[in-house]
Amino acid sequence: MTLRHFLDLSDAGGDAIAAMINDAIDRKATRADFPKGKPDPDAPLAGRVLAMIFEKNSTRTRVSFDMAMRQLGGSAMIMESGSMQLGRGETVADTARVLSRMVDAIMIRTDDHAKIEELARHATVPVINGLTDRSHPCQIVADLLTVVEHRKSLPGLEVAWFGDGNNVLHSILEAAALMKFNVRYAVPPDYEPDDEFVALAKTSGSRITLCRDALEAATDADVLVTDTWVSMGQAEAAEKLAAMRPYQVNGDLMAVAKNDAIFLHCLPAHVGDEVSEAVFEGPHSVVWDEAENRIHAQKSVLRWAFGQL
Ligand code: CP
Ligand code: NVA
Repeated sequence: MTLRHFLDLSDAGGDAIAAMINDAIDRKATRADFPKGKPDPDAPLAGRVLAMIFEKNSTRTRVSFDMAMRQLGGSAMIMESGSMQLGRGETVADTARVLSRMVDAIMIRTDDHAKIEELARHATVPVINGLTDRSHPCQIVADLLTVVEHRKSLPGLEVAWFGDGNNVLHSILEAAALMKFNVRYAVPPDYEPDDEFVALAKTSGSRITLCRDALEAATDADVLVTDTWVSMGQAEAAEKLAAMRPYQVNGDLMAVAKNDAIFLHCLPAHVGDEVSEAVFEGPHSVVWDEAENRIHAQKSVLRWAFGQL
């Protein structure tokens, strides 16, 4: 079987992502009353080890992948790049070749997408993207699972994004192309997503609309999503924060969305900036389901990478 890297959602494709969502729903239901660390009855990754490399901070990605491996019957190890030889000049290529001899899969969070591509080129085990400056595909599998749980169906869904045109929006646009939903992205000038992702989503037939007016984007939306205005590795510039201010997800925006609209945020959140407290803590917010779903979604990503889906 060809090696299955998961650098972006397109590496899996729409059918595999649908299979991941279904698998996550089934497995989540099967273990509803289990202690969190108890393996699933079939332990499909028994004996497998995942190495996780972090060049940036993480709470959810780190814990969800570790718990995912435990629940699948395998195990995971966490390596901070600063305490690896990678952090003092060993090449990405050599790191890939060594880890491939020692573990069964590698997950990496890095600032530079080119690094994960390099790692994948030299690894002989699956490489999974735990966030780069370009994309965050594992997060979006969890988001799609959360949407399906709350709204049932992805095709034709109206998803509205507010704020920075960042890595998370890139993966949402890629998901729109693969799963056939529409995206209105309300972002200020100079903070648009990369054209590549917009073009990909548009050519797939999804309706992709740039809105400068947040209210326009929110009107009749099924899903409202935002993220931090300052991503890891970015400078916190006053100019950027001022440009983002009109794009806060607040009660005015929820009021014009569909009555049963849901609010998503990958977290960590900066309540009072990209989202008001009323929305974050309010009845439309499903952010804790979304966070929990990182475990269930990451299990499916892992099963796909190991050729089981
Ligand atoms: N959403 C997300 O990736 O969270 P962490 O940065 O805590 O992993
Ligand atoms: N856009 C954010 C996502 C954090 C999970 C970042 O890259 O920091």
